[in-house]
Amino acid sequence: MKHATIIGTGRCLPEQVMTNDDLANIVETSDEWITSRTGIKQRRISTGENTSDLAYKAGLRALERAGLEAEALDLIICATITPDSFMPSVACMVQERLGAKRAAAFDLSAACTGLVFAMTVATSFIENGMFQNILVIGAETLSKAMDWTDRGTCVLFGDGAGAVVLQASEQKQGILSMHMVSDGSKQDYLCLPALPVSNPFVEKRDKEFTPYISMKGQEVFKFAVRTISDLIKNVLAKAELQVEDVKYVVAHQANYRIIEQAAKFAGIPLDKFFINLDRYGNTSAATIGIALDEMNEKEMLKPGDKLILVGFGGGMTSGAVLLEWN
Ligand code: ACO
Repeated sequence: MKHATIIGTGRCLPEQVMTNDDLANIVETSDEWITSRTGIKQRRISTGENTSDLAYKAGLRALERAGLEAEALDLIICATITPDSFMPSVACMVQERLGAKRAAAFDLSAACTGLVFAMTVATSFIENGMFQNILVIGAETLSKAMDWTDRGTCVLFGDGAGAVVLQASEQKQGILSMHMVSDGSKQDYLCLPALPVSNPFVEKRDKEFTPYISMKGQEVFKFAVRTISDLIKNVLAKAELQVEDVKYVVAHQANYRIIEQAAKFAGIPLDKFFINLDRYGNTSAATIGIALDEMNEKEMLKPGDKLILVGFGGGMTSGAVLLEWN
């Protein structure tokens, strides 16, 4: 069996910084409220770049770091809930801009778990021998899905993209174990509606269409804490490893308090959790890719280090990947 290893990472964040004080000029909130409830201090907001622009730049950077030509790619998967359009997919737009002529390309929708789900799908393609080189991107412009009058949500999110290049290896390294979970019974915890059915046979709509993210914050909080610690235990058991074997956990960057409580539940020291949500807020499918690229750039990751990537998000979905850096 082949194994999937990460050979490059990349990220792209819009230049525009929006601080908590900037938000306090728009909605009734304060730096103190946002910081103490979430740990977020600022986020990046697009001034016009769409999801495909951020995805392309993150993907290009990951290819450069990998030292791989775009034409060597067999597949591009873009995880996003904020595509430029329903059709074409962001992945097809990125394929064209990169010149990845041989690559198949598609988008994947699993909200904030998107990158972990996409890495799991990509790993399966590599393990079964179908593909050699796969670019996986998580990219979002959540700012276009915000109700900027709703202080309960607009303070939490930001825009950005993160990417990884996965390559087939004969050696047992890279992704060692993975797990995916979905629970549609909790679908109302996080919602971002798409177009309602409207045609000559539809007389009237039930309710007004609002193209914004809505959230049951406390339900999401409880779900996230439980699921992060369950998933960590799951991928550790599958890889026959212990908590002590893990160098870092890269959890979805939604809220500092979620990570703090999950660390306690999982029995892992908090300092093993990489955190950058203070600077970027929640960029949904992009958070884990952005974090990995920052860690890579800071040379925090050494060959042999074991990492757990763990995500949770709308659906509800959740998933984790345990990998050995090489
Ligand atoms: N500034 C000031 N006050 C606020 C703000 C704000 N930005 N937002 C809400 N409030 C107020 C509310 O109106 C409420 O006021 P009231 O008591 O007068 O009615 C009060 O603060 C408490 O509101 P709650 O919603 O109960 O606040 P809570 O303590 O639960 O914190 C939070 C809210 C931070 C959103 C928390 O529930 C949380 O972090 N949940 C997880 C959210 C999350 O991670 N979402 C992303 C999921 S990933 C994905 O897939 C997108």
